[in-house]
Amino acid sequence: MSDAVERMVDPSAKPDDRLDQTLRPKRLGEIIGQQGVKENLEILISAARQRSEPLDHVLFYGPPGLGKTTLAHVLAVEMGVAIKVTAGPAIERAGDLASILTNLRSGDILFIDEIHRLGRAIEEVLYPAMEDYALDIVVGKGPAARSIRLKLPRFTVIGATTRLALVSAPLRARFGAVYRLDYYDRGAIQEIVWRAARMLGVVADDDGIREIALRSRGTPRVALRMLRRVRDFAQVRAGGEITRQVAVEALNLLNVDPLGLDDVDRRVLETIILKYQGGPVGLSTIAAAISEEPDTIMDVVEPYLLQLGFLDRTPQGRVATRSAYEHLHVPYKTEHSQPRLLE
Ligand SMILES: Nc1ncnc2c1ncn2[C@@H]1O[C@H](COP(=O)(O)OP(=O)(O)OP(=O)(O)O)[C@@H](O)[C@H]1O
Ligand SMILES: [Mg+2]
Repeated sequence: MSDAVERMVDPSAKPDDRLDQTLRPKRLGEIIGQQGVKENLEILISAARQRSEPLDHVLFYGPPGLGKTTLAHVLAVEMGVAIKVTAGPAIERAGDLASILTNLRSGDILFIDEIHRLGRAIEEVLYPAMEDYALDIVVGKGPAARSIRLKLPRFTVIGATTRLALVSAPLRARFGAVYRLDYYDRGAIQEIVWRAARMLGVVADDDGIREIALRSRGTPRVALRMLRRVRDFAQVRAGGEITRQVAVEALNLLNVDPLGLDDVDRRVLETIILKYQGGPVGLSTIAAAISEEPDTIMDVVEPYLLQLGFLDRTPQGRVATRSAYEHLHVPYKTEHSQPRLLE
């Protein structure tokens, strides 16, 4: 069913989100929120500039739609270097990576999105490239084959992943700086929505913007998409201005509840609570029960439910918390979450 119905709260990029490009902050100073990451990046940039060296290799991880790609571009602007963009699944053969690497200039940034999806053989090429700025290539075939080492310019890899656990240990070790992006707090999201509203010339009041921020799961991409949909609703049904009432009606119509949960999130919780007595239940079982991709549940549904405190992760599987029962208006029974000991 999810193939047919587009999820309003899906934080992965959709064709409709192209407009976000124009809304993307270009400089570090324009980045709203993520204070800790921002300060660390400031230091990283200043230190590299003072030494006239390329930036250290940087790895960003965290749920989709929080600004990993944005930050990679910001780093290129701040360092005044070119950025070449690619993604793990796009690099199919070692030769593909070799040709990308040999075309870089000193200081350039190579941005590798979904870096956890790089093939093993490709990673082997990347290690010496990142560590020694060297490319080992094999020339000739059979017994006559020999390896020659090409020098590469000093460049910077910026990796992005939603799954740090799937990045191999040796690859992870090649990154001098590893930063986790977390959901934005309400104030930051509100500021991001306000900034976009001003740039798009949207008429809104504070309460209208706050309502969008509240339901956006702390995710800029989702917040910006909601802003566009609420703007449409305001234009067609409500004389153009986004007020709280307009935002509530528009988002209710899109099936997004006051905490930003949609049907998929609610079905996950219902499955655990109603079908598996509150858990523990494994993630793949939940995915199968509601015919969703386990990846969607892992990347999108679960991190936000954990953040809300609606789920606990135990070695036996996921357990729904009392708050989750309350949110779904199901009476909470403690024995559901604690398997009883038989005497
Ligand atoms: N700190 C921010 N301030 C303002 N807008 C932001 C910020 N971070 C992200 N955005 C907006 O949110 C959109 C999504 O961000 P981005 O594409 O960088 O996410 P991402 O983490 O790379 O997601 P994915 O994992 O799906 O690739 C951007 O187009 C940008 O407009
Ligand atoms: Mg991205």
